[in-house]
Amino acid sequence: MAKLKIGIIGVGGIAQSAHIPGYKAAGDQVELVACADVNYERAKQVAESFGFRRAYQDYREMLEKEELDAVSVCTPNKFHAPATIAALEAGCHVLCEKPPAMTAAEARQMVETAERVGKVLTFGLHYRFSTEVQAAKRIIDGGEIGHIYAARVDAIRRRGIPGWGVFTNKELQGGGPVIDIGVHMLDTCLYLMGYPKPVQVLAKTYQEIGNRPGVGAMGAWDWQNFQVEDLAMGMIKLDNGATILLETSFAQNIDVMDRMNVRLSGREGGINLFPLKVAKEMHGGLYDVTPAWLPRVDRPHTEEVKHFVAACRGEHEPMVKPHEAVRLQELLDAIYASAEKDDIVYLD
Ligand SMILES: NC(=O)c1ccc[n+]([C@@H]2O[C@H](COP(=O)([O-])OP(=O)(O)OC[C@H]3O[C@@H](n4cnc5c(N)ncnc54)[C@H](O)[C@@H]3O)[C@@H](O)[C@H]2O)c1
Repeated sequence: MAKLKIGIIGVGGIAQSAHIPGYKAAGDQVELVACADVNYERAKQVAESFGFRRAYQDYREMLEKEELDAVSVCTPNKFHAPATIAALEAGCHVLCEKPPAMTAAEARQMVETAERVGKVLTFGLHYRFSTEVQAAKRIIDGGEIGHIYAARVDAIRRRGIPGWGVFTNKELQGGGPVIDIGVHMLDTCLYLMGYPKPVQVLAKTYQEIGNRPGVGAMGAWDWQNFQVEDLAMGMIKLDNGATILLETSFAQNIDVMDRMNVRLSGREGGINLFPLKVAKEMHGGLYDVTPAWLPRVDRPHTEEVKHFVAACRGEHEPMVKPHEAVRLQELLDAIYASAEKDDIVYLD
């Protein structure tokens, strides 16, 4: 089969640390053809150091001039939808970084475009490819914990406001920890629960630490232009009767530096994801089952890109399904809407 001709839109941190190494790991199945970045100097420098043939400032020009098969969209969130739709319309398969988009309306438009043009569209929710999540999925599919009726999602940082990029710019990112890191654990949780539909959301967001100077464990952030929430708390009810409690922060006075975790409670057992532990009642006792050995997957980001390449080659469906991305984005929208109106939001 011919090599997939790859293009990258936005060549900052995640493109250089995850997508490009992922394509390199796919070996001779792919060919790095072109990259585009509004910062043309960066595009040229990345093209040179990673071996892309050409660099562009405008991704539309790249899509017009190059005959690409697949594109990674690694821009700030605001450009996920326009860049993805343009790449799909140009006949490319697309791996778009998380969150899927800024709004559910945009995510729907992306999915509708992919369906119309018949191309693969998937999203960079790499935690799904981790050893722990894949092991938990096998345990759940094996019936070990039964129906999951309650979950707790943590994506919390003590002083983890990124001191680089545009992560505190509401116009470019759409929000703070909810849309940036909460999205990963919410997706992981819903994936393990079988992606039930959220039907009610009650959430509140805070801005208590990010808008004043302080110790930055992820670099010095621009507190004078801090436009997003630094903490969100939420309760989510799902159409199968289950509930999720959400806590996600960039800055919060807590006793850990950061924690990404999902805890699932089922009728027959429970799962804590990071670190992986299964809670069981067995033969008159309560047991914590911990893995002594698990088949290691490659780095989750690398697995994600290799999985995308195989999906483009028709070897399988992408693990992150377009309709799941829409559902996830609807949940993100509802969390922010509930915080904004200070009331419960009902999803139809
Ligand atoms: N999955 C993960 O682990 C993970 C980690 C970090 C970031 N991300 C996601 O990746 C995306 C990018 O984050 P990052 O950390 O790489 O940010 P970054 O700021 O390091 O890089 C973004 C790049 O996009 C470029 N850009 C901006 N607007 C553009 C446009 N219209 N067209 C082309 N290029 C444009 C910027 O110049 C920059 O080089 C975000 O959506 C973020 O949520 C995912």
